[in-house]
Amino acid sequence: MSTGRRLWAYAATLPAHLLGGLAGALLAGACQLLLVLYAKPLLDNATNAAGVSVDGLVRVTISIFIFGVGISVGELAYMYLLDYVAQGVVLNMRGDLFRHLQALSLGFFEDASTGALVSRATNDLSVIQTRLNNDLAALLRQPVMIVGLLVGILVLSSWQLMAFTLLVGGAMLPVINFTSARMKLHTAQIQESLADLTAHLTESLGGIRVVQSFGASEHEIARFEADNRATRRAMMRAVRVRAVLRPLLHLISIVGLILLLVAGGWLYSQGLATMGDIGLVLASVPTLSGAFKDFGRARLAWAETMAASERVFELIDTAPDLVDAPDAVDLGAIEGRLEFRNTGFHYRTGSDVLTDIDLHIEPGQMVALVGASGSGKTTLANLVPRLYDVTAGALLIDGHDVRAVTRASLRAQIGIVPQQTVLFRGTVADNIRYGKPEATDAEVEVAARAANAHDFIVALPDGYDTEVGERAVKLSGGQAQRVAIARAILRDPRILILDEATSALDTASEALVQEALDRLMQGRTSLVIAHRLSTVANADRIVVLDEGRIAEQGPPAELLAQRDSLYRRYHALQAGASAE
Ligand SMILES: Nc1ncnc2c1ncn2[C@@H]1O[C@H](COP(=O)(O)OP(=O)(O)O)[C@@H](O)[C@H]1O
Ligand SMILES: [Mg+2]
Repeated sequence: MSTGRRLWAYAATLPAHLLGGLAGALLAGACQLLLVLYAKPLLDNATNAAGVSVDGLVRVTISIFIFGVGISVGELAYMYLLDYVAQGVVLNMRGDLFRHLQALSLGFFEDASTGALVSRATNDLSVIQTRLNNDLAALLRQPVMIVGLLVGILVLSSWQLMAFTLLVGGAMLPVINFTSARMKLHTAQIQESLADLTAHLTESLGGIRVVQSFGASEHEIARFEADNRATRRAMMRAVRVRAVLRPLLHLISIVGLILLLVAGGWLYSQGLATMGDIGLVLASVPTLSGAFKDFGRARLAWAETMAASERVFELIDTAPDLVDAPDAVDLGAIEGRLEFRNTGFHYRTGSDVLTDIDLHIEPGQMVALVGASGSGKTTLANLVPRLYDVTAGALLIDGHDVRAVTRASLRAQIGIVPQQTVLFRGTVADNIRYGKPEATDAEVEVAARAANAHDFIVALPDGYDTEVGERAVKLSGGQAQRVAIARAILRDPRILILDEATSALDTASEALVQEALDRLMQGRTSLVIAHRLSTVANADRIVVLDEGRIAEQGPPAELLAQRDSLYRRYHALQAGASAE
């Protein structure tokens, strides 16, 4: 479907307002037209050699008043109703965009720039929001005016005058067509450079700690300056188009007026036209040129709307690459058996990160993943909630391939404490409740206590109601991590994934949290990525990853007993480090 049609489809969800608005625009256009055409009977009556007809004068005056009221009523209707429709269109487009973004896979977001995505949801939609408005009624109102005027001149006076008028109008159309095509192009460029600018802003504000601590502000300013200037250049191209359109139309209408007056004067001198005809021409030309100016401006606004809408639709149209299978089933309650079968994985860019992973985890078991950084531990864990799809082999939960069940039912069974804690805008309690929105305050507190977070939370200015920023600037890394643990505890999942969940804690609080985690892991299947081997000494099994392959696996004591196992070597390294 074309962009224009899709916008119509959005607008058509408010049929009564849309039709009412369009009718208002038609009414205003028709009344304005009749008002202009009445110049002829008015003048012919006034200059009638047989004397002025008072009756006629009264009739004309009353009509003119009625048309004036008609214009006002029509304008009132369309200005309100069409803006109502336009805001509805923006509301629904923005909603659809956000909903669609939620459906896209993690892989999509890693390839895209957050700033550029945000730009489409803000800058592009705001172009639509400001340009898609009642001014566009001119696209309907003014053609009615223009055609009506031409027909009126033909009927009321002569075809010669109509032909001249048509000529003047005909000269304006190509100008409008050309400028609106340029405008669409320039708008696309402006939006593109605004996206760059937003991406830059997001990145450098997101990394402001690094920027400042590296004293890189000047460097950032210089880079921003370049993007900033590029945006102005693009903007100025559009400004030039907009600036040139009206004066050009004006010039054409002046030349047209002169031609028409000369022609009209000649026709009058030959007795082929009346004073009324001349008056009609005088009234028509400014109206005509005004109509074309309005129409031209609306065409520019429409071109801008189209360019921005194309960008928004492009994003709405990106097909989600990780979706529920059409016949996906609800996973239902599970025991928590995890089975990797010859599983392989590579990110979209780059070579294999995981190769031939064969791993069976029985319900309730605790398996610890150990390995150098970059060996693929986080990647392996991310496959379980199907944040990514395996690229070879399969992953089964309770015998179901994860690709054959709905993601919602799968993810409902899994609790993750990620390596990097994310806290959302809201209170501490909101953040804990993220794992289970319907949880009561009491449940939230129980979870916080289990995560050994209760004590620091009640010491915060507003306790559980303390607002935390999106990047949790107000909480220390360890505190944020304990909030994340409470979130997972509250969820009460069958499968628990801890990705270096205690890495941001000091040794003292780690011991406390570890005790909480040990309690949490009771009776659940847990996949634990450990940064300190001491924390997984009681695991049922250790799996050592080396460059994406399982190098060795077995109970901790067994691996430790093997003379040249990797596990034993890691152990010796860490023991040595802590001895120092
Ligand atoms: N989103 C990603 N896109 C591309 N490559 C990635 C991505 N995340 C991780 N990698 C690569 O995959 C490998 C394994 O990373 P990861 O699973 O994070 O290791 P670990 O958690 O063991 O430190 C690394 O080489 C890393 O560079
Ligand atoms: Mg990792």
